[in-house]
Amino acid sequence: KTAAIVGCPFSGGQPKPGVDRGPIHLVEAGLVDQLKGLGWDVKFDGHHQFEEISAQYANDPPIGLLKNPRLVSSVTESVAQAVSSHSAKGELPVTLGGDHSLAMGTISGTLTTYPDAGVIWVDAHADINTIETTDSGNIHGMPLAFLLGLTACDAVPEAANAPASLQAMHPFSWIPSPPLLSPSRLVYIGLRDVDAGEKAILKKHGIKAFSMHEVDRYGIGKVVELAMEWLNKDYQGAHEHRPIHLSFDVDAMDPTVAPSTGTPVRGGLTFREGHYICEAVYETGSLVAFDLMEVNPSLADAAAVQQTVNVGCSLVRAALGETLL
Ligand code: ARG
Ligand code: MN
Ligand code: MN
Ligand code: MN
Repeated sequence: KTAAIVGCPFSGGQPKPGVDRGPIHLVEAGLVDQLKGLGWDVKFDGHHQFEEISAQYANDPPIGLLKNPRLVSSVTESVAQAVSSHSAKGELPVTLGGDHSLAMGTISGTLTTYPDAGVIWVDAHADINTIETTDSGNIHGMPLAFLLGLTACDAVPEAANAPASLQAMHPFSWIPSPPLLSPSRLVYIGLRDVDAGEKAILKKHGIKAFSMHEVDRYGIGKVVELAMEWLNKDYQGAHEHRPIHLSFDVDAMDPTVAPSTGTPVRGGLTFREGHYICEAVYETGSLVAFDLMEVNPSLADAAAVQQTVNVGCSLVRAALGETLL
């Protein structure tokens, strides 16, 4: 069994510098050897370099409210290729962010290899704002809207009357249409800061979400069981269960557990609840890709950064089979 670390030092989906250093800190903390210690062959040939793309889009004016649209589009397109080339070889891509806009790339990559994969999105936030609903314009709050095709390219104002040749250059036009992901194959765990427009989207599309309220009510064990049941309810594919892409935003954890992140929200997952999700998904044998996003080592003091990086490494280990006994 081989895990491929996809280090993505990227911060263009949100305004706070430092989140691009997240993957560097996670690897420097010894993550590669820790995974080898669990019996994995680990492929890691350095972090991805987005410098060329960044230079190309040094001038990247907003489209509507969207910030760095061409940069984020181009970076996530290259991440999609990296992830799908690993999963096509049967390797388990472990993507380290970087901000959560990167998940447009990771999930597209997974769905290219496993078209019927389901997504478990662990986050304080729903990250499903469209061009119409976003008030921040930060694309890390929007990746699921693009993945689900809720925000079409022609919804981009400047695309409206552009010639086809120009439309092809529009941000996120690389994301296939019709979309590879469908609302019934997405489940959230940990939500507690969902924008009004996002609540309407979740309702309209019947998207399954276990907020912190449901975690409190049912306990995390039941929540993960229900999430897996939901994803497999209509599955009749080649595998025993639907392949699972687990996208974990570290801000799903309570800020007392993982303080160094750009948009912390109180009332989050405990240390054990976060780990339990990773352990339980691994146990199903269906995990085909894992993301750990939004570790920002430049926020909070040195001790808090070290704590967050250590929690990040231990979440990855849990998702890759580390057990307590
Ligand atoms: N809902 C807010 C927004 O759209 C916050 C998103 C935070 N996302 C994240 N990946 N941390 O701007
Ligand atoms: Mn979040
Ligand atoms: Mn908002
Ligand atoms: Mn997120």
